[in-house]
Amino acid sequence: MYERREITTQERIQQQAYCEKVKAHIAGRPHYALVDTYGCQQNESDSEILRGWLVQCGYELTADEDKADLIAVNTCAVREHAEKRVLGNVGALGHNKAKKPDLIVCVGGCMTQQPTVRERIRKSYRVVDLVFGPHEVWQFPELLLKTMERRGRRGSKSRLIAAEPSEGVVAEDLPRQRDSAVKAWLSIMNGCDNFCSYCIVPYVRGRERSRHPADIEAEARQLVEAGYKDITLLGQNVNSYGKGLDEGVDFPDLLARLDAIPGDYVLRFMTSHPKDATEKLFKVMADSEHCAHHIHLPLQSGSDRILKEMNRHYDRAKYLEKVALARRYMPDLVLTTDIIVGFPGETEADFEDTLSLVNEVRYDAMFTFIYSPRPGTPAAEMPDPVTRAEKQVWFDRLLDAANRISAEKHAAYVGGTVRVLVDGETGQTPYNLSARTKGGRLVHLAGDPALVGKFLDAKITDSTTWALYGQLV
Ligand code: 5AD
Ligand code: SF4
Repeated sequence: MYERREITTQERIQQQAYCEKVKAHIAGRPHYALVDTYGCQQNESDSEILRGWLVQCGYELTADEDKADLIAVNTCAVREHAEKRVLGNVGALGHNKAKKPDLIVCVGGCMTQQPTVRERIRKSYRVVDLVFGPHEVWQFPELLLKTMERRGRRGSKSRLIAAEPSEGVVAEDLPRQRDSAVKAWLSIMNGCDNFCSYCIVPYVRGRERSRHPADIEAEARQLVEAGYKDITLLGQNVNSYGKGLDEGVDFPDLLARLDAIPGDYVLRFMTSHPKDATEKLFKVMADSEHCAHHIHLPLQSGSDRILKEMNRHYDRAKYLEKVALARRYMPDLVLTTDIIVGFPGETEADFEDTLSLVNEVRYDAMFTFIYSPRPGTPAAEMPDPVTRAEKQVWFDRLLDAANRISAEKHAAYVGGTVRVLVDGETGQTPYNLSARTKGGRLVHLAGDPALVGKFLDAKITDSTTWALYGQLV
């Protein structure tokens, strides 16, 4: 049975003590750590915590595999392709370990939450020293220390340490090494209760659990005070935020509460399940000072029959109603989506329904995937007669439509002036800066790197399918 488990301050302090012990283990010369991340923003956010712990443990961070004394791979289980890629890359670390026998290899993330994958790593990936799941990130120092102690024992060959799989953890105040000084992830909840029939997430990330609003607000305030300009609230389905908390808050309430924090910044969020996106949400977004007028609203399919099979709890008409309502509140709304092509039993007619909906809604950007069976999910048991080649043809048609619409939408910006946040350097000339519109569209600019972190006006001079190009005004 699922139970929410809030990590106590005591438990967190204990982890800090483990950090000191790891530090003692690696004292004497600088040690370097590399964290490699696959998958979604939630994983990127978890990797920031892993890096935070590693720094507290005395490691310096590196991007150079050859230099690393510790490599942690944060994995994704959403599609088979990612899993294969991860296992290939983990296997290849054998070469690194041959050159550097002391190298510590840790594998974490959603893949390792599946017992079959843990078993496979135990049996066939002897290069791996430590396996842990997304619920154990909070106790990484303890696991790392155990790994070091096990190896240090005389006569003991490097043996795998695996965390006890747990679930339902909520942990506050963990250290974090953020990737950017401008953009920040702010995880507001974890897990998912929706059980879409194709999706592995509820099985690996566990049941939904929300952080307390006061903790989230405190973190948001710290971010704004530290100068972060672009804050993205993360959750598998942010629209069901607050369920199970005593505070009686929902997601729009939380958004309004965060919006009240004074400062010059943009608030974003993802992902929104269409069934739970409400008029109240659109209203709060429209009325807010900081909230980007952008919604990522995964459609998955435009066919009522397939949506039912997917267990999505909306149909085409309801989805279109929500889009129309959101656009009524925010005429400048940027809308993005996820779509799966080739769900088991999908016919060409179902696919045409998806394509027609896409042409009707005209998304600003789309993330499209060919269905990938995930063992343990209901869809993996459904008959799936359509060949991969046929699915690929549908996929290519969808991608063509997505690219055409995105190029047309981008072209409409040319000649206009938009407010952007300069968020980084590209390392390219002449467009050496990257920036985002409030709706999240990518803009390439030329300018002084000192402008990173500033909100400025840019005149859009050119566009492609993927980006806008502009001049600062
Ligand atoms: N196969 C293909 N795509 C999937 N997604 C989730 N599970 C699968 C799967 N089994 C896609 C959905 C989701 C996005 C994050 O990944 O579109 O919104
Ligand atoms: Fe997966 Fe559906 Fe939950 Fe999204 S809402 S994480 S697709 S189960």
